[in-house]
Amino acid sequence: MKQIVILGSTGSIGTSTLDIIAKFPDKFRAVGLTAGTNVEKLEEQIRTFSPAAVAMADDAAAERLRARCKGLKTTILSGTDGLRQVATAPDADLVISAIVGGAGLVPTLAAITAGKFIALANKEPMVMAGRLMQDEARKHGVRIFPVDSEHSALFQSMEGHRVEDILRLILTASGGPLWNLTKEELRRVTVEQALKHPNWKMGDKITIDSATLMNKGLEVVEAHWLFDIPASKIEVVVHRESIIHSLVEYQDRSVIAQLGLPDMRTPIAYAMNYPARVPLDLPSLNLAQIGTLTFFNPDHDRFPCLGFGYEALQVGGTMPAVLNAANEVAVQAFLDRRIGFLGIAETIRRTMDAHKPVEVSALEDALGADAWARAKAGEIVESLAAAAVR
Ligand SMILES: NC(=O)c1ccc[n+]([C@@H]2O[C@H](COP(=O)([O-])OP(=O)(O)OC[C@H]3O[C@@H](n4cnc5c(N)ncnc54)[C@H](OP(=O)(O)O)[C@@H]3O)[C@@H](O)[C@H]2O)c1
Repeated sequence: MKQIVILGSTGSIGTSTLDIIAKFPDKFRAVGLTAGTNVEKLEEQIRTFSPAAVAMADDAAAERLRARCKGLKTTILSGTDGLRQVATAPDADLVISAIVGGAGLVPTLAAITAGKFIALANKEPMVMAGRLMQDEARKHGVRIFPVDSEHSALFQSMEGHRVEDILRLILTASGGPLWNLTKEELRRVTVEQALKHPNWKMGDKITIDSATLMNKGLEVVEAHWLFDIPASKIEVVVHRESIIHSLVEYQDRSVIAQLGLPDMRTPIAYAMNYPARVPLDLPSLNLAQIGTLTFFNPDHDRFPCLGFGYEALQVGGTMPAVLNAANEVAVQAFLDRRIGFLGIAETIRRTMDAHKPVEVSALEDALGADAWARAKAGEIVESLAAAAVR
């Protein structure tokens, strides 16, 4: 029986993970759950799964949850310390890292330092502090299993092969809901349009990241740190159908890919059961019915955010953390309808241009760059919002 902690249990990845736990009660037990502010959903999860402890990032939300869960055995913690405590619970075997954004860095790193194996969906911490996370993982004998479908595909396509034989990692990108729009059309895109992902049902932030292709920029950085492969060997191809989840080319020109219908339960279950596979009640892939798979080169003019990912990786140090924080601020401003769609890339560009990177030698370096970039990007958002009103 594996004891599971889910950081971000109320989100899209978190609830899919709980689906798997519910389906295999003889294999898994949810011992710890965390959320940001969603009291109702966490209460429902406490009543269904009876975890030993839960934590909410928001103190006031945790207080409301305590009032609603009087008489239940679950311990309810709050704030960064609470999240850290749940992430390092002594009986936990595997921590599913599924908080959205940089907020996941501290609890995920704490789990690694406590020697917990990680199933990593939350890519932003790997972008902010990839070297630090991998150094800690090595130091504490921790394995980090990818959950992101592309990285799970790369991981599966590398199994049984030698890293030195790899020529290229090829990440596939769906292109998101706005792939066919002109730059002028992109300028006028609404939040509703940007949230209509063609293939995946995910949280709002990653859905907007898919629309800007920033998600792929973040994934290039994530792939670099997960697999220790230089950016020059990581490529991206737009594949509209999201059937091929990513590919690895070897020096004999053989290319190995992983395919499947787009459903996150497959990579989540693989990370939870590795190296075993469990039966999932999902439809089979029917290639004849799909008929055609399409591929395109990314368009860096309409979607500059992918290039920002490569650039941040090349500059190194605190630049990826700055890229990530500026993106988080800009995406939230777009979702709040304060800036337009193209304002996301502009905010990131201007924040990166203003940054003087330093090495990330400790957690504080990444967190310091994150705080600086949030303030800077906030100023840029204010100026863009003011210009739009004039
Ligand atoms: N969704 C996918 O299919 C998918 C695929 C690949 C990778 N990922 C990655 O997985 C991560 C989660 O994505 P998602 O789509 O599941 O996001 P989501 O649906 O928005 O869920 C985010 C989770 O994080 C919690 N949270 C938000 N802000 C927090 C904070 N400041 N402190 C602590 N917890 C906080 C949320 O709690 P509340 O509910 O209380 O707000 C929720 O449990 C992201 O890094 C994303 O890039 C997702």
